[in-house]
Amino acid sequence: MTHVALEVKESLEERCDRILRNMEASLTARDRVGIQDFVLLDAYTSETAFLDNLRKRFHENLIYTYIGTLLVSVNPYKELDIYSEKQMDTYVGVNFFELPPHIHALADNVFRTMMSEFGDHFILISGESGAGKTEASKKILHFYAVSCPSTKILDNVRDRLLVSNPVLEAFGNAQTLKNDNSSRFGKYMDIQFDHQGGAVGGHILSYLLEKSRVVHQNHGERNFHIFYQLVEGGEEDLLRWLGLERNCQHYNYLVQGNCAKVSSINDKSDWKTVRKALSVVDFGESDTEYLFGIIASVLHLGNIEFEADARGYASLRNGQEMHWLSELLGIPAEVLQHVLTHRKIEAKTEEVSSPLSVDHAVYARDALAKAVYGRTFNWLVGKINQSLANADSSRMNVIGLLDIYGFEVFNINSFEQFCINYCNEKLQQLFIQLTLKSEQEEYEAEGIEWEPVPYFNNKIICDLVEEKHRGIISLLDEECLRPGEATDLTLLEKMEETIGGHPHFVTHKLADQKTRKTLQRGDFRLLHYAGEVTYCVVGFLDKNNDLLYRNGKEVMQQSKNAIIQHCFPPSEPDRKKRPETVVTQFKSSLAGLTQILGTKEPWYVRCVKPNEAKEPGRFDDVLVRHQVKYLGLMEHLRVRRAGFAYRRKYEIFLQRYKPLCPDTWPNWKGAAAEGVRILVEHLGYKADEYEMGRTKIFIRHPRTLFATEDAFQVCKHKLATRLQAKYKGYRVKGDYQKQKGAATKIENCWRGLMARKEREKREWALGIIKRFIKGFMARSEPTGADNREYLAYVRQNYLTRLKQNLPQTLVRSDSWLSPPPIMKEASRLLKRLFLRHLARKYVRGISEERKAQLLLKVRTSCMFKGKKENYPLSVRSPFLDTRIDIQDMNMKALQMIQHENVKYGVPVVKYDRNGFRPRPRQLVFTRDAAHLLDEAKIKQTIRYGSLKGVSVSDLSDNFLIVHVTCGDIKRKGDLVLQCDFLFEALTKLSAIVDKRDLIRVVRGSVRFDIQPGREGFVDFRSGHEALVYRAKNGHLTVESTSTESR
Ligand SMILES: Nc1ncnc2c1ncn2[C@@H]1O[C@H](COP(=O)(O)OP(=O)(O)O)[C@@H](O)[C@H]1O
Ligand SMILES: [Mg+2]
Repeated sequence: MTHVALEVKESLEERCDRILRNMEASLTARDRVGIQDFVLLDAYTSETAFLDNLRKRFHENLIYTYIGTLLVSVNPYKELDIYSEKQMDTYVGVNFFELPPHIHALADNVFRTMMSEFGDHFILISGESGAGKTEASKKILHFYAVSCPSTKILDNVRDRLLVSNPVLEAFGNAQTLKNDNSSRFGKYMDIQFDHQGGAVGGHILSYLLEKSRVVHQNHGERNFHIFYQLVEGGEEDLLRWLGLERNCQHYNYLVQGNCAKVSSINDKSDWKTVRKALSVVDFGESDTEYLFGIIASVLHLGNIEFEADARGYASLRNGQEMHWLSELLGIPAEVLQHVLTHRKIEAKTEEVSSPLSVDHAVYARDALAKAVYGRTFNWLVGKINQSLANADSSRMNVIGLLDIYGFEVFNINSFEQFCINYCNEKLQQLFIQLTLKSEQEEYEAEGIEWEPVPYFNNKIICDLVEEKHRGIISLLDEECLRPGEATDLTLLEKMEETIGGHPHFVTHKLADQKTRKTLQRGDFRLLHYAGEVTYCVVGFLDKNNDLLYRNGKEVMQQSKNAIIQHCFPPSEPDRKKRPETVVTQFKSSLAGLTQILGTKEPWYVRCVKPNEAKEPGRFDDVLVRHQVKYLGLMEHLRVRRAGFAYRRKYEIFLQRYKPLCPDTWPNWKGAAAEGVRILVEHLGYKADEYEMGRTKIFIRHPRTLFATEDAFQVCKHKLATRLQAKYKGYRVKGDYQKQKGAATKIENCWRGLMARKEREKREWALGIIKRFIKGFMARSEPTGADNREYLAYVRQNYLTRLKQNLPQTLVRSDSWLSPPPIMKEASRLLKRLFLRHLARKYVRGISEERKAQLLLKVRTSCMFKGKKENYPLSVRSPFLDTRIDIQDMNMKALQMIQHENVKYGVPVVKYDRNGFRPRPRQLVFTRDAAHLLDEAKIKQTIRYGSLKGVSVSDLSDNFLIVHVTCGDIKRKGDLVLQCDFLFEALTKLSAIVDKRDLIRVVRGSVRFDIQPGREGFVDFRSGHEALVYRAKNGHLTVESTSTESR
């Protein structure tokens, strides 16, 4: 599972949920499991409170606790189920406070800081021997191996990084009283990462291998693992070839501690692991042969014994070992034998070979064994480095892992402890410089208000050890190189002389009474920053000289073993110049290390050992308190509490977090400090959470930063989406603009086309209009070019309009559309045609009865039109056949006239000729006569032959006067009648009689015959109302209202 993959796997919500759960869980469990960051400790100055917390957690199997970003680890001495790959996954990409403290969290944070800030880092793992440093470094390495991005090539590198460990441990680790797998060398390992976070290579530096272990082990301790592994696990063939027996007890160098077998170590299976690992880190067949040849030859060398010959000089006791030695190293046995029993002395001009005493021979043998093993170890490291080397060194970042021996205090401390403790002093100094001092100096430089934390600066001790000319190292070297009888005791004296007054240096001689009791005569005591250590000066000169007699080196140069050849190159410093002493070499390699670390950002893992018995569940307060002190944990905590957890240059801080504030995103134009101020104000930082320095922002609590970082992570995703959207938008916009451009082009073309068409249309229209106007102006001229069209138009227009406005009936024929002048004649003709057509249509549509009706109406019209005033009123009402049906007539009367063929009957009012009394009568026209009936009586019959005529007035009355020829006096005279259907009745009569001028329309008065010879008059006049009366003059006066006024 890689970092990236995990981010995808866990959603933000899930993560928040998990964080909350964890935080709450840790809060509620605080009483039981203590706090997970010492920074949160109330009594942060109390060592006891510190210890209590550590103990509480230890007993709950919580071996890790933070001091800010420093990790304190207590060795559990038992397997805890907290290092599985699943566990690793939970720590990937998670901030410190989110999960219980863990070495994985530290590793992950280092990695992420490196990835985001592109700097180099190192993790300093320190602690006493057996406190768990090596385990911690392995856990870190394993974490990177599992969680970093991987490819096939990277996997290869990763495998090499991982297996380099068992190889180095086999050759450099041993079982000691303190630790069954104690690293007997200091190790600094670079893991190199490419810019994607893939591990691409590594490099290992080793420091001060404890070579003395090759030839001597304290009681209860072992030699380096590899010897036992070879003897126990080596294949039969191999052992035979190396001349070895499968029995550790057989070898002097393996039995001095009297514990070749350790229950916790399985040499056989470790052997297999190492063999496999060697092939992974590119050890060829010959390499391994030479390598094991050397290991075997060391064992053989150890078994060489000397005895004194007659002169007291050393001579070889057994020849068998020499045979194998010669075989394996490829050096003649005599040469080897000689070199082990003699030494070359430079006399004035020549070299003299002088025999050695037994003691000296043993010393020479051991020296050779140590030298061979030590140099082979260095070769091994170099070989592993070749295999880890990163081919492409461009753009890489480094995480260094420093697993170096912790402070060592034994009952008897010798040169090795001196070197180791000196190393720890140097690392403490580095820690002070990188953390404490630099922290305080930085606050000062940045002008941040800050209460200085008192801390002990161990520079004074470093100086005591390494100062030129006056330092212990200088004095030691001086004594080593001095001609004459220099011994360890002369060294002690010299030290007493030179640095006697130093507050951190005491010897038996210099000490006060009380202290003296605790010191031997050959002891000196240093007051290290971590505590007092008493060193026994015996062996210091020898160990520092590490002299391999020169001829021993020369002999080794003849070896046929390629590794030995490599380790003893012919270009060894010339004989005049003394080789560098061990302590000087160590000093310069430490200086190199300090330089390497000085350019990197430090992270710390402080390992604590809970008890000396390697027992689980035991927490030795005194032991732990001591370690807490010399690991500088309290000081570190004090600085953490007083100071700020995080600081960054304004530019860097702003660069990273500027997306979190609209004012600073995407670009801040002003000063970075101002930008940061606006940014943190926007983020809602409280005044006590941060300080603004001269060039940096200081954030007091990690949680403030974590919150900001989390916000940034969320924002980053949003930003990515926004950028994506922007880009998409940009592309779409591009497309859109292209399309728009195209659309505009098309539109332009289209518009142009349309405009041209429009123009053409207008031109055409203009022509038309012009012609129209011209035509209009010339409309009355004879048809010609100018007006032909117009006139045609006028014609057509008129005709069209006419068509739509033709009169529907003849009656409306006067609504004929008036024609334009040129159409007058045509119109007239058309009108005539049309009216005729209408008439025809009308006539054709008329029935026989209607025709008869109309003929009657025509007759009426002929008689009365324009003559009698109320004629027009009668036009509309149709004529009936009769106004009195046959059945309405008196039967008797009817019988009398029936034979005459009754044609028409109408009710009338008859005015008496004398007196003008009105009487209702029926007037019936037959074929022959007109009868005036009164019920059954025929009052008067007028034969048509005797009918002279009928007079009516020209006014609106309905009076008619029927004139008859009257020769007989007895016969009745003319009739004065009033008839409501005057026109109908008279028309019928006229039709029956068919006599011209039957009806006369008269004006004024009508004279009538009352009886022959006696005349009467009817006067017609118009009046306001219709009246009929007898006037004083004896005339019947009929007044009628004018129809016009009606
Ligand atoms: N985290 C751990 N979990 C379990 N056992 C551990 C752990 N750390 C150390 N140990 C035990 O302690 C022993 C010593 O640890 P090591 O790392 O070799 O000490 P150092 O390197 O500090 O001398 C290991 O062999 C192992 O048995
Ligand atoms: Mg170790």
